[in-house]
Amino acid sequence: MTRHFLRDDDLTQAEQTAVLDLAVRMKQDRWGAKPLAGPQSVAVIFDKSSTRTRVSFHVGISDLGGSPLIISTANSQLGGKETPSDTARVLERMVSAIVWRTYGQAGLEEMAAGTTVPVVNALSDDFHPCQLLADLLTIREHRGELAGQTIAFVGDGACNMAQSYLLAAATAGMHVRIGSPAEFSPAAQVVTDAERRAAETGGSVLVVTDPVAAVAGADVVVTDTWVSMGKEDEKQQRLDTFKDYRVDDDLMAHAADDAVFMHCLPADRGFEVTAEVIDGPRSIIWDEAENRLHAQKALLTWLLAANTATTATATTATATTATATATAATATAATN
Ligand code: CP
Ligand code: NVA
Repeated sequence: MTRHFLRDDDLTQAEQTAVLDLAVRMKQDRWGAKPLAGPQSVAVIFDKSSTRTRVSFHVGISDLGGSPLIISTANSQLGGKETPSDTARVLERMVSAIVWRTYGQAGLEEMAAGTTVPVVNALSDDFHPCQLLADLLTIREHRGELAGQTIAFVGDGACNMAQSYLLAAATAGMHVRIGSPAEFSPAAQVVTDAERRAAETGGSVLVVTDPVAAVAGADVVVTDTWVSMGKEDEKQQRLDTFKDYRVDDDLMAHAADDAVFMHCLPADRGFEVTAEVIDGPRSIIWDEAENRLHAQKALLTWLLAANTATTATATTATATTATATATAATATAATN
């Protein structure tokens, strides 16, 4: 079975750790590993706008010795003219992986079910798992081991970032809290999935409506735009609904003394976060943005190694095998 990365809990805790460890090594030796040498091509498809994701995948695939193929849906046959699975069956004859930023999660699942190459979610309405790998890498760099730390997301609890925090932080063994208006709570199934994962890793999940209760004593405070892509028609209603969920110095004062602030960007200063916080000394947003590059390079390397292992043995690749293969491939490339 081909391994894909459509949501954060597609990786186990051990696999997530392996990808983050690989990202650390790739950051230390940026051009040392060329697993896409050939070059192999990777298709990166955008149904929505992007700056960070577009650039980090383009540069990252190039760093790995590969050839990035950046496709806008507007100029392709996707987006109503061809099904995701038909597109994928064509692309798989020519590329080694497909990265797709889209609206519904169902399209990603359809594409993944119909192809032999790994499919990576570069943001959907439901999840943004590549961003979360970068965020976890950044938290490790600034605060050390992930397990046991408390992370508080404040704002739109139903958005892709909040739901990805639930799954990714629970996978990492963190205590994850969401503070959002009741009508913008995360999907019940996502909360259940995060709770199940947290029970395995020693983490925990808390969803509350009081932003102060969410942030109290937290090690990491994070927010995201109140108006995600595709929600522009609801802008005024959302600005009114979320006005008590702004991250400002008063809210940050409830977090741990050494707490850091994160935001995936782009940010609307003065709305979900004040300039004093996002541009202040606790903000680690620029490292977070840079780490998209290193985390995604590690993810692509790991996924391709995991799928090579699966094909070679004609059996299900275990986490250990995939991790060992990815590590060995990187070590070999770095040595050469
Ligand atoms: N954080 C993020 O995904 O940014 P872009 O929308 O610019 O890719
Ligand atoms: N929640 C935001 C994230 C942007 C990177 C959106 O979907 O627009």
